[in-house]
Amino acid sequence: MTDIHSITLRRPDDWHVHLRDGAMLNAVAPFTARQFKRAIVMPNLASPVTTRQLAVEYRGRIQAAVPQSASFEPLMTAYLTDNSDAEDLAEGFQNGVFAAAKLYPAGATTNSDRGVTAIENINTVLERMEKIGMPLLVHGEVTEPSIDIFDRENVFIHQVLEPTLQRFQGLKVVFEHITTSAAVNFVRAQGPRVGATITPHHLMINRTDIFRGGIHPHLYCLPVAKREQHRLALREAATSGEAQFFLGTDTAPHAISAKESACGCAGIFSAPCAVELYAQVFDEEGALDKFEAFASLNGPKFYGLRVNSDTVTVVREDWTVPDAVAVEGGVAVKTFKGGETLHWRLQD
Ligand code: NCD
Ligand code: ZN
Repeated sequence: MTDIHSITLRRPDDWHVHLRDGAMLNAVAPFTARQFKRAIVMPNLASPVTTRQLAVEYRGRIQAAVPQSASFEPLMTAYLTDNSDAEDLAEGFQNGVFAAAKLYPAGATTNSDRGVTAIENINTVLERMEKIGMPLLVHGEVTEPSIDIFDRENVFIHQVLEPTLQRFQGLKVVFEHITTSAAVNFVRAQGPRVGATITPHHLMINRTDIFRGGIHPHLYCLPVAKREQHRLALREAATSGEAQFFLGTDTAPHAISAKESACGCAGIFSAPCAVELYAQVFDEEGALDKFEAFASLNGPKFYGLRVNSDTVTVVREDWTVPDAVAVEGGVAVKTFKGGETLHWRLQD
């Protein structure tokens, strides 16, 4: 820890967000829009965003859900399926509707049933994306039931990611929400065309925390948190300032009733305190001087976008994270670190 009391940086962007739809969208989107200028919006709605048309409509609903004053810019992604239309995707990218396309291996996570069943099924699409410089965002976990859940990311690297990068030597890829030292090392070895997002929760919890004194469903997400050695590797990567690693919260709201259940679903909601969580980690690592690179510079550079011109200030100040956020209709979403005291606070 240092004795720095405040830090001003270019406004950050969130390169991995679930905003959902309907009442949930209206409840959660203002939190992301308050903290971030832009966000890569994940397309895994109950009915996924598979086409340019659906993305334009969804973008409109997001814009209507955030205050105009926020000047928030949602960056849309296409949900890849076995039948994705390369032409529609390419036109969407070239017309500024799509910033990227997202690969969900079928069955890997929330609303991924319509995802890709075998990577070979999207060869034509990947070829096209490579040609036009459209980034591929990957949920990097295999889905074979026989593969241990804690090994799924590692197996994905060797079984899917490595051969895909070999085959498409110019394809830009973001390895989303990495959770292991193997992923950190792999990304580094690939050079600048491969980036990785790192979530605040994977920097703060390990797999033991999920079971500390009993089962904590609100700490369950996918990819699931791994051993302590991996959390430390992620902290080292994020705070290194290296261009390949950037901020992506993977904030993923679910109703409390869906989390606290006999079969609780995966996702951690961090939007109300995301910048503060990261600031705390960078402070603990004595790396506040690298925070701007991770939060505000590396992402735009990877995506080929301008960096934001306005700034935000985060101050060393204790505050209590709201326990939960209410959604119209009587539902609520539990916040990561809800009820706990954080030592950094984003100023309005
Ligand atoms: C995400 C969700 O709920 O949409 N859940 C999660 O645990 N991260 C999906 C995802 O990114 O895997
Ligand atoms: Zn996600």
